[in-house]
Amino acid sequence: MTLDIARLRAETPGCTNVAHLNNAGSSLPPSPVVDAVVEHLRREAEIGGYEAAAERHGQIENATRAWDMAFYGFPFAPGDRILTGRAEYASNWIALRQVANRTGASLEVVPDDEDGQFDVDALENLLDERVRLVSLVHVPTQSGLVNPAAAVGRVTRAARVPFLLDACQSVGQLPIDVATIGCDVLSATGRKFLRGPRGTGFLYVRGDLLECLEPPLLDMHAAEWQPDGSYVIRPDARRFENWETYVAGKVGLGVAADYAQAVGIELVWGRVQALAAKLRAELAEIEGVTVADRGDVLGAIVTFSMRGHTADDVQTALARHGINVSVTAASAARLDLDPRGIDQLVRASVHYYNTDEELDRLVSGVAALA
Ligand SMILES: Cc1ncc(COP(=O)(O)O)c(C=O)c1O
Repeated sequence: MTLDIARLRAETPGCTNVAHLNNAGSSLPPSPVVDAVVEHLRREAEIGGYEAAAERHGQIENATRAWDMAFYGFPFAPGDRILTGRAEYASNWIALRQVANRTGASLEVVPDDEDGQFDVDALENLLDERVRLVSLVHVPTQSGLVNPAAAVGRVTRAARVPFLLDACQSVGQLPIDVATIGCDVLSATGRKFLRGPRGTGFLYVRGDLLECLEPPLLDMHAAEWQPDGSYVIRPDARRFENWETYVAGKVGLGVAADYAQAVGIELVWGRVQALAAKLRAELAEIEGVTVADRGDVLGAIVTFSMRGHTADDVQTALARHGINVSVTAASAARLDLDPRGIDQLVRASVHYYNTDEELDRLVSGVAALA
């Protein structure tokens, strides 16, 4: 079985305009996703927003929002320990830091191993009865690295410590199964490798953890006002949702998830790994280019720097040739980039619909700057 790239590109209108290598930022959505979102917006205009949502009831059951709602629901107390890794993302770190400051819990960073990925043995040694949460970024914003999530899950399960996995950059590019990974909470976003609409995401919380997590924000969707003036939080994962929502986006997210399943996530994973590996190898040949990705398992994200050029310069030069890449600043991932003395990287992130010809254009564009 192989992917029919010509067909998949024909279903992706943006492919005719750009060589899109910013899929870790936000990928090009396929036509069925765009059509579903636009159609829903039209329907809202025709018959009313609530009425249009009611028509879609079965299709928007599961999409929702994510990481913060779960994280801020954990009760921490002075003396508790929260563990995270070097791949931690700025938004998560800021929330972790805020909660640690407020509650008196400590926030500790598990080191990377010699290959540059989360060190599972070090985690095992750090665990004790005071550790209340392990937070891991599966695929970081700033690297091709795929962290060993399932190995972390085995350790946290054995120690009965909740494991919060940020899968924003991994869902849609590689197979994810919460049971295999052993995580208790997983967050993901729609617009990246899942090819869904912007402004969408979803959250998984293991059933028996639900009761222990009190959402930081409650409304009449997440809880019910009782006659005596109290409220009761709903028992299911919808306690993390809020009433008002981007319904067209949820519809589009559902279509994107179905589309990804139909394409075949194993095939996607094989292709993005191969494309990214080729790109890394070819970039590394260019005088002055340093490829920055580290780790045992590498995925769709390729990061590099170029002597004599800022990452912004490289991005601007490539954009002139119709090639989209992005720039990652150290402030997005300080635990990884600061110790390595990196303040900026060019990030070229492939998806399965990218072609060898597009990669060649990128490599030529970079080589022309050397
Ligand atoms: C590792 C990681 N987590 C979370 C996010 C944030 O997702 P969102 O922008 O949808 O909140 C990103 C976005 O780049 C990310 O790289």
